[in-house]
Amino acid sequence: MTFKEELLQGIADDLPKLKPYNSEINHAPKRKDILTEDEKKLALKNALRYFDEKHHNTLLPEFKNELDTLGRIYMHRFRPEYEMYARPIDQYPGKSVQTKAIMHMIQNNLNPDVAQHPHELITYGGNGAVFQNWAQYLLVMKYLAEMTDEQTLIMYSGHPLGIFPSNKNAPRVVVTNGMMIPNYSKQDDWEKFNALGVTQYGQMTAGSYMYIGPQGIVHGTTITVLNAGRKISKNGEDLTGKLFVTSGLGGMSGAQPKAGNIAGCITVCAEVNFKAVNTRHSQGWVDEVISDLDKLVTRVEKAKKNKEVVSLAYHGNIVDVWEKFDAENIYIDLGSDQTSLHNPWAGGYYPVDISFEDANDMMVQNPSLFKEKVYTSLCRQTKAINNHTARGTYFFDYGNAFLLEASRAGADIMAENGIDFKYPSYVQDIMGPMCFDYGFGPFRWVCTSTKSSDLAKTDKIACDVLEKIMLSAPTEIQQQMADNIKWIKSAQENNLVVGSQARILYADAEGRIKIAKAFNKAIKKGEVSKSIVLGRDHHDVSGTDSPYRETANIYDGSQFTADMAIQNVIGDSFRGATWVSIHNGGGVGWGEVINGGFGMVLDGTKEAKKRLKAMLFWDVNNGIARRSWARNDEAIFSIKRAMEMEPKLKVTLPNKVNNSLLDKLFKK
Ligand SMILES: NC(=O)c1ccc[n+]([C@@H]2O[C@H](COP(=O)([O-])OP(=O)(O)OC[C@H]3O[C@@H](n4cnc5c(N)ncnc54)[C@H](O)[C@@H]3O)[C@@H](O)[C@H]2O)c1
Repeated sequence: MTFKEELLQGIADDLPKLKPYNSEINHAPKRKDILTEDEKKLALKNALRYFDEKHHNTLLPEFKNELDTLGRIYMHRFRPEYEMYARPIDQYPGKSVQTKAIMHMIQNNLNPDVAQHPHELITYGGNGAVFQNWAQYLLVMKYLAEMTDEQTLIMYSGHPLGIFPSNKNAPRVVVTNGMMIPNYSKQDDWEKFNALGVTQYGQMTAGSYMYIGPQGIVHGTTITVLNAGRKISKNGEDLTGKLFVTSGLGGMSGAQPKAGNIAGCITVCAEVNFKAVNTRHSQGWVDEVISDLDKLVTRVEKAKKNKEVVSLAYHGNIVDVWEKFDAENIYIDLGSDQTSLHNPWAGGYYPVDISFEDANDMMVQNPSLFKEKVYTSLCRQTKAINNHTARGTYFFDYGNAFLLEASRAGADIMAENGIDFKYPSYVQDIMGPMCFDYGFGPFRWVCTSTKSSDLAKTDKIACDVLEKIMLSAPTEIQQQMADNIKWIKSAQENNLVVGSQARILYADAEGRIKIAKAFNKAIKKGEVSKSIVLGRDHHDVSGTDSPYRETANIYDGSQFTADMAIQNVIGDSFRGATWVSIHNGGGVGWGEVINGGFGMVLDGTKEAKKRLKAMLFWDVNNGIARRSWARNDEAIFSIKRAMEMEPKLKVTLPNKVNNSLLDKLFKK
C-alpha cells in the first residue's frame, strides 16, 4: 500500500500487527494510576469507540494492559509503520493545499527527531500531546486527506469530532485542548480526565501542530540570555567569560547550551536523563558531556580562565551543581532553571539524591513520598541559589513555574513583602518590557517543499525586509531589529533545522506583515517553490494569558484573566487563519494559563495576501492594546504608533493616576 493510500485508509478494517516495545525510543514515564475500577471500565469503553465491535475482544485486554502498565491508552498497535516526518507537500493526498500543509505540520510534530516521546504522541514538555492515541492520529489524517476548502475539522483535545460544512474563508481546523469547566482544572483533573480519554494537555505548539524543534526556542532563549547579559553588564561589556548555569536538555530546555554559545558565554546545563543528554549532544546542541562534579568544576575554571565560549552538559541533578559551585566558590553570573516544573509530579522534576530510574518508579508507586522528595529538593536548590545570588548572581525564573513550586514547597523564595517572589521571571524583567510590549514575538515559517534552498531564499527575503524597516524604525525598537537581523544572517551557519525546513525570528506587527507579504509574492513569482506555513509560538504578545509568564508584567490585576487569549483566537479565526487553537495549561501547567495560536498557509494568491494583512495585524495589536490598557509605557508607545499607521484602529487608552493622590487619601 502506498503512503497516500495508507493515509486515506484511516483505521484499517483489519487489525494491524502488534508492535514490539522499542526501548531505544525515549518513552513517556508511566502516568499516575488514578482511576477507580468503574472509571477504568469507562476509559476502556471510551477507547473502544474508535473500533468495530468485532475487534473489541482482542483490543480490550490489550488496552487494559496499556492502562495498567502505562497509565494511559495510547493504542500502540495502531502506530503506523511508515516513517514519521514532514514530507514535501505534494506527497500528501488531498483536495486542499491548506489541509496538506496541516498534515505536513502534524507529521513534523511526531517525527522522532523532533518529538520528545514520539510513540506516546508527546512532542515536548513531558506531556505536550498532539493526540491522545494513534486512532485519533489515523482518523485526523484521513479527514484532512478527504475534506475540501468548504469544510472545517473540529478537534476536541486530540479527538476529531468530525468535519463540518463551513466556507473557504473559515479555518480548516479549529483545535481546543484541555478546555475544562474552571473548577475541574487542577493537576489531578488532568491525570483523571486524560486517563479517561476525554481531554489532553496540548502544551503550546504540540497540540496545535506548530512545533519546529528546538530552533523555535533557541532564538527566544538567545534573545533572553543576550538581554539578561545586558542587564548585568556594568560597562557595556558582553558575556565573554561569564558563566550561565541552568538545567534541562529536553524539548525546549535543550536549546539553552546552543543559545549560550550564540550569546557568547560559558553554559553549564544539568540533565538527569541520559537519553536527553545524548540526543542534544549528538545533534551538536551541547559541546561536551561531563558526569563527575569535580571534573565539571575543573572544566568550568579552565573555561573561565581562557574566556571560552563553550557549553557543558552535566549528566546529573541540577541541585548538586548549585551546591557544588557554592561549596567551591565558583561565581555564577547568570542562573536559571528549565526543569519541567509545570508538571512536577509526573516526570517534570527529578529530586536530588534519587536515581533517575528510582524516581520514575517512586512517582507511580508512592506519589506522596515522591512529592515530599520534590519539595525537599526544591528547598535545597533554592537555598543554594540564594547563596549564589547573595554574592551577585542574577537569577531569573524561566517560565517553568520554578518560583511557584518552590514557594509551594515552603522554600525561602518569597520577597520581604510576602507577596512577590525574591526573583523576577524572565518576562517581568526581559521579554515583557523589551519585546512583548513592543509587539515583538516568535514569528515563524515553514517551507512545505522541504527544500533547504527555499528556506535560504526566505531567510534572505526576511532579512531584506527587516533591514529596510530598520532604516526608519524608532530608537525604541532598534536593538530588537538589530538582534533579529544578526540572528537571521547567521541562522544558516548555526545549523538550526531539526525536522521541517523552518525558521523563526522575533518581529513586530509591521515586520510580520511585510515579511509575509514578501513571501506570498515570492511564491506567486515562483521564486519559492511551494506554499509556506506561517505561525508562531503561543509564547507571544497576544496569544497567552499566564500570570507568572507571558502576562507577568501586567500589573493592573488583569493578569489573572484570560480575555486576551480567547479574544485572540476568535479574532484570528474570522480574519483568515488556516487553523486556530486554544489550550489550557501550555508551558506552566494545567489550570495556570490559557494560550492560543494559529497557522496560516500562504500560496501566492490574492486571497492569502488579504488574509495575512488582516489577521497578523490583529494577532499582534490585540495584545499591545491590552498591555497598553494595563498602563505599560512601551505598549502605550506601540499602540499609538499602530493607530497612526492604521486609521481604522481606535484603541481605548488609559489615563494615569498620580500616586500622590492615592497616598494622601490612604494616609495612615
Ligand atoms: N525555553 C523557553 O523559552 C521556555 C519558555 C517558557 C517556559 N519554558 C519552560 O521550561 C520547562 C522545560 O521545557 P522542556 O520542553 O525542555 O521540558 P522537558 O520536560 O522536555 O525537559 C525538562 C528536562 O529537565 C530534566 N530534569 C528534570 N528535573 C531535573 C533535575 N532536578 N536536574 C536535572 N535535570 C532535570 C528532565 O529530565 C527533562 O529532560 C517547561 O516547564 C517549559 O514550560 C521554557
